[in-house]
Amino acid sequence: MSLLVTKNLVKYFGDTHAVDHVDFTVKEREVLALIGSNGAGKTTLVNLISGLFPPDSGQILFRGQDVTHESVHGRISAGIARSFQLVNLFDQLSALDNVALTIFSREGKTRKLASLASADHAVWDEALEILRLFGLEGKAQMLAGGVSQGERKLLDVAIAYALRPKLLFLDEPTSGVSTREKTPIMDTVTSVVRSRGISAAIIEHDMDVVFNYSDRIVAMHQGAILADGTPDEIRRNEAVTTTLIGTTGPR
Ligand SMILES: Nc1ncnc2c1ncn2[C@@H]1O[C@H](COP(=O)(O)OP(=O)(O)OP(=O)(O)O)[C@@H](O)[C@H]1O
Ligand SMILES: [Mg+2]
Repeated sequence: MSLLVTKNLVKYFGDTHAVDHVDFTVKEREVLALIGSNGAGKTTLVNLISGLFPPDSGQILFRGQDVTHESVHGRISAGIARSFQLVNLFDQLSALDNVALTIFSREGKTRKLASLASADHAVWDEALEILRLFGLEGKAQMLAGGVSQGERKLLDVAIAYALRPKLLFLDEPTSGVSTREKTPIMDTVTSVVRSRGISAAIIEHDMDVVFNYSDRIVAMHQGAILADGTPDEIRRNEAVTTTLIGTTGPR
């Protein structure tokens, strides 16, 4: 059963066909990898689905509901959350505060930072529990700006997860981290996703990560979908191997 469906989705920036008539699906309880060379349209597709800007045409259905014109907040409430290609943290706040702020915003509670400390125990308990889930409980009181790059990437995912999504989009969760740090990040992220029965669509350039962790792979090229299949199918897909594999990689 499809959780998310896009139909004929289009977004052009001038002459750039960033997303060009894309039919994209994410199923329930799957870990999907979205691959493609630089400029293929991956982030734009996620921007359209998460509501950062409107498509030129086409439709976005989430759990059967048309959310094409829904606000960002409306989509978050419906269950779509995303992390950003560049992490989106408050560096001067602790890891715990970063997660707690997200929970407050999810609950529609706006608080001045000074009053955070005296706020709702349930929120702090939940924030700590989320850090624990991502193996970051030992960093709870550290400033987000002071933890390692790998931990920052995980914290960014934890923050998106704190929105209680049914579908989590992760834009390059392992970019900028050492090869050694990629495995624990992906182990943690995919185990949270699978144990909570949610879906994740992960934009990723490292093909080892893609093949090791995903159930299905969607490859984009010049704004369009080039291939869609299991890791085995994609490995054998000639269009993908000639256009993408070997050409993707960190910038
Ligand atoms: N806000 C924007 N204004 C103008 N052009 C844009 C904008 N966002 C993206 N583009 C262009 O659309 C195309 C697709 O970009 P996008 O960022 O979606 O690619 P991507 O697949 O995420 O690439 P990368 O792997 O480098 O992150 C590129 O040519 C890019 O320059
Ligand atoms: Mg991108």
